[in-house]
Amino acid sequence: MLAMTQPATTPPPNTRAPLAHTPFATRMNGARANFLREILKTALRPGMISFAGGVPAPELFDVEGLQQATERLYNEQAKLALQYSASDGLPVLREHLAALMKSRGTEVDASQMLITTGSQQGIDLVAKVLLDAGDIVLLERPTYMAALQTMSMYEAEFRGVESDEHGLIPESLEDVLNACALEGRKAKLLYLVATFANPSGVTLPLERRQRVLEIAVKHQLLIVEDDPYSELRFSGAHVPSIMSLADAEARQWCVYMSSLSKIVSPGLRVAWLIAPDWLYPKLVMGKQSADLHTSTFAQVVAQNYLELGRLPAHLDKIRASYFERGQTMLKALEREFPKGVLHVNVPEGGMFLWGDLAAGVDTMSMVQRSIDNGVIYVPGGPFFCDSPRPNSLRLSFSTPTCEEIEEGVRRLAQVMVD
Ligand SMILES: Cc1ncc(COP(=O)(O)O)c(C=O)c1O
Repeated sequence: MLAMTQPATTPPPNTRAPLAHTPFATRMNGARANFLREILKTALRPGMISFAGGVPAPELFDVEGLQQATERLYNEQAKLALQYSASDGLPVLREHLAALMKSRGTEVDASQMLITTGSQQGIDLVAKVLLDAGDIVLLERPTYMAALQTMSMYEAEFRGVESDEHGLIPESLEDVLNACALEGRKAKLLYLVATFANPSGVTLPLERRQRVLEIAVKHQLLIVEDDPYSELRFSGAHVPSIMSLADAEARQWCVYMSSLSKIVSPGLRVAWLIAPDWLYPKLVMGKQSADLHTSTFAQVVAQNYLELGRLPAHLDKIRASYFERGQTMLKALEREFPKGVLHVNVPEGGMFLWGDLAAGVDTMSMVQRSIDNGVIYVPGGPFFCDSPRPNSLRLSFSTPTCEEIEEGVRRLAQVMVD
């Protein structure tokens, strides 16, 4: 039976009687378990169809390309790849990633780029370096669950910023900042996923990005823009990153992070973070204390993979496949759910659909029945830093096949439609 509330960390089997005085740091009091990890355990059950993930389809990995990249490492670069390396990351990889950023419309100097062990580490480093207990962090409603988890580890105080089908609402951001000012307080940072957001799938339009940037500069608020998905666009026009809209002064308030996880392989754990000069050295210090540097081996594989020039074709392939899966899910939902029962967004890329059932419905309370019926999804509540919307849910279309999507949506409707 799956715990329906935020579960405490599961003790290992054979744990003896609890200690009278647990030696945990106080910061663990506020630490949230990642609800998603709990749900994903059930995805391994035979016959289960999972819309809960949000990971790349494993059959689409460019195994041949990564094998070539690794063979080159063993043939030509073993002494480099098997050794310790600098904390900022391998210079050549940083150059390649700066070129990738340029192709996305964001000019960056490789020296502003820190290679991180996944973007998750980027989030952790930003929090570690900037947050004291009780500092205010602004988050979209809903937001990326693991960011919430990480920031809660650093005892941040959260304030939710409203968002709609176009992402974060700038007026709400101003309202929240003004409310902080009335309390005589200042928010430290705004974390957001502006493109094909996890969990909502929505993309912040250009005008709102400009507005968010203006507000951030006015209030001296650091924007932490997390962008693992923007290359996964399958329709509509590219929207530039918030960082790319910033002039030199505004750049002081912009941090950007991205990752190879969704576009090449999450197993590599290679990602990057771009930070202003005042922040960068502190992030490097934070990284040194965390892991010295990201795996040199993985960085060399990533570097070689990018040099092979296979990424553009690979991206075409995964975009086409995610588009097909997303369309299949949208059509199946339209077919299986009577009109008006479930409202879903129509994303232009990424891996997620976000749905709302009628007000008063609680998707958390349907999880167990859904699991029993052979399909899993993630209820929306845990994605909110405050006032959760219990009638919402996240559906990922990236890993199931189209046949599984059709069947999974049928099973979902059996649970959710009276
Ligand atoms: C918005 C967002 N940020 C960060 C991550 C973590 O990515 P990485 O594998 O690079 O740590 C994810 C993964 O799901 C994500 O959705």
